[in-house]
Amino acid sequence: MSVNATHSDTLVFFGATGDLAYKKIFPALQAMVKRGTLNVPVIGVAKAGWNLDQLKARAKDSLETHGGLDPAAFDRLCQLLHYVDGDYNEAATFEALRRELGSAERPAHYLAIPPAAFGAVVEQLSRTSCTEKARVIIEKPFGRDLASARTLNQILLKTFDEKSIFRIDHYLGKQPVHSMLFFRFANSMLEPFWNRTHVESVQITMAEEFGVQGRGGFYEQVGTVRDVVQNHLFQVLANLAMEPPIRTDSESIRDEKVKVLKAIPPLDAKNLIRGQFKSYRNEPGVAPHSTVETFAALKLHIDSWRWRGVPFYIRAGKCLAVTCTEIQIRLRQPPTMYKHYDLASNYVRLRISPDVVLALGFNITSPVRESVSESSELLASRHPCAQEMDAYERVLSDAMVGDATLFAREDYVEEAWRIVDPALKAATPVYEYEPRTWGPTEVERVTPTGGWQNPLLSS
Ligand code: BG6
Repeated sequence: MSVNATHSDTLVFFGATGDLAYKKIFPALQAMVKRGTLNVPVIGVAKAGWNLDQLKARAKDSLETHGGLDPAAFDRLCQLLHYVDGDYNEAATFEALRRELGSAERPAHYLAIPPAAFGAVVEQLSRTSCTEKARVIIEKPFGRDLASARTLNQILLKTFDEKSIFRIDHYLGKQPVHSMLFFRFANSMLEPFWNRTHVESVQITMAEEFGVQGRGGFYEQVGTVRDVVQNHLFQVLANLAMEPPIRTDSESIRDEKVKVLKAIPPLDAKNLIRGQFKSYRNEPGVAPHSTVETFAALKLHIDSWRWRGVPFYIRAGKCLAVTCTEIQIRLRQPPTMYKHYDLASNYVRLRISPDVVLALGFNITSPVRESVSESSELLASRHPCAQEMDAYERVLSDAMVGDATLFAREDYVEEAWRIVDPALKAATPVYEYEPRTWGPTEVERVTPTGGWQNPLLSS
């Protein structure tokens, strides 16, 4: 692979000894080496008192635990790997980084660190001449409300222009999320009914069977709405609701997504139900009287020509009955002569994980009793294949070549906060629920006509 003028010529990643690097970044780097998309120096930065050999050992351990070690690709990755140890507040760390960068002209700085450290790191990078022609890649959360997101954007924009800022929402890098647009715009049969005339409601469920997995301290700062709704699930919603972009370049696509959010009025506190699983308060790092939600169900409207009057429901939570992310687009009942049948609504079902399913739900007559209607699905499904790019591999590869399509733009992030801010600030009650259920009973107040469709893992 040759490195051309649009390709970053070094990847610097801050937080190299952290949890995200261990779980996601090393596996993504090895995959990139294997696929031939990473052939430039990779400089890990952290404050751990480590040396390069210790970082390599950590990388090996990470790969053995997460996804598997490929000896040839790992060897190659080790040849690319460098390490700078030091405090993010000290100039000496960045001077050492500048030396390590050598003749690199277009580094990509990936800040896999808590947002509180962004300001200091960006300022030090700029002071030590590490930012000219550079890109910056940052991890969510992008602030915790509209005001803090704006402050964060101002910090970044003092040093980088928007074209050089890549805000990662790894959900966008997931193949099934990314290919929702292909599904919508490469199939003409959907368009005639993909609108308020035919769609009765849309529901998006992101259920996780597991709890906070030792991340209680982090979760206390966010809660479900900030952790996955304002970012991951709004991206899914935008993919479902956006208009076909006029061109396929990143800005044309991102413009259409922002328009969806602009058409959504602020979330009304009465349309948000928050839940907390029993025993959450016993998790390490969680306050004994915490009111942070581990479950949220909400109803939004998109005030656009296509969608006015169609409710969009989003539900997400930890310790639910299954782990699955699924969408159901429920259609209006036909003006039918079959009034004596108990007809179900037709629907489109899109499952994003753990497997990928595209299904159309129909009513058919029962072969046993012809006076009875049964639901049946026309189904296309597939399991993830080994060659498929993992979300982190995709977004890091794209950032290195400067393709911003799968990243959240400044205006998008701010619109997303505008929508959820008022309801979050209203400090609505949090209702307790039993683990391995579908959330608190109060969720019935925010439930689509015909009920929530709980994903079944056998289908
Ligand atoms: C992360 C959230 O952004 O996304 C987690 O912080 C959540 O709480 C995760 O579990 C879900 O993403 P994935 O790729 O693991 O399904």
